[in-house]
Amino acid sequence: MEMQKEPVGDLQLHQVLRMNEGDGDNSYSNNSLLQKKVILKAKPILQETIVQLYSKSFPECITMADMGCSSGPNTFLPIWEVLEAIDESSRKLNRKPPILQVFLNDLPGNDFNSIFRSLPSFHKKLEEEMGGEFGPCFIAAMPGNFYRRLFPPRSLHFVHSSYTLQWFSEVLEIPLNKGNIYLAKTSPPGVHKAYLNQYEKDFTAFLRSRSEEMIPGGCMVLTIYGRDENSDSSAKHSPTIWDFFGMMLNDMELEVTTPENHKLSM
Ligand SMILES: C[S@@+](CC[C@H](N)C(=O)[O-])C[C@H]1O[C@@H](n2cnc3c(N)ncnc32)[C@H](O)[C@@H]1O
Repeated sequence: MEMQKEPVGDLQLHQVLRMNEGDGDNSYSNNSLLQKKVILKAKPILQETIVQLYSKSFPECITMADMGCSSGPNTFLPIWEVLEAIDESSRKLNRKPPILQVFLNDLPGNDFNSIFRSLPSFHKKLEEEMGGEFGPCFIAAMPGNFYRRLFPPRSLHFVHSSYTLQWFSEVLEIPLNKGNIYLAKTSPPGVHKAYLNQYEKDFTAFLRSRSEEMIPGGCMVLTIYGRDENSDSSAKHSPTIWDFFGMMLNDMELEVTTPENHKLSM
């Protein structure tokens, strides 16, 4: 992830946040293996949902939106999984496969150009692996903030989102977090409450917008990064990646501050 270097001023978080573009060493495209594994793990749920959706009403065209699609191979993975499910169920039911219309959503700073450049090879692979009889697949972009309305009323059959809904809509104003950058073992209860409140606010806004945009009987598959705060497992007590990032940032700050002001200000 990269934040704009210039002063942010009146800009909102969703106007400056973006994943690293392109396909270089530091690109999101080349550093999103964990997110790929998450998509693959949820594949059976996604495919079962599509099969049910299709066999309930046999729409001529299935309209799907992927919220927070980013760029790189992961962008195309959920589309491929949907196409496989459509292909298999239309074969089983001996019906002509429906058209798939896909809207790829992400924030306006996302590298949509690299997605567009990959479209010809995606369509070529589709033709090679699924054959000419397969219904067409139209892919378009819908840039914008998914915590707001993005589509006309009752226009989507299927909404997918993987590893995105942990992004808040705004920077949290939280009480002192004892040198941590996220929820840690040592975070005071007020910090937990601030995160929970913001999550509730954002997730409600997301669901409210989608509830307007989805056709009755439409389906959503949302894969969300989280942790079970009530669990008694050792995972709850072991440090997370954010604890380590927090430590690194604290060390970096100590290195640049003079001995007189070696106090943590986080
Ligand atoms: C970790 S990436 C996941 C991308 C992809 N779904 C995957 O599994 O690889 C999270 C994506 O969500 C996008 N995102 C975050 N907040 C968003 C918002 N409010 N509206 C639209 N996209 C958002 C980010 O720009 C980023 O591309």
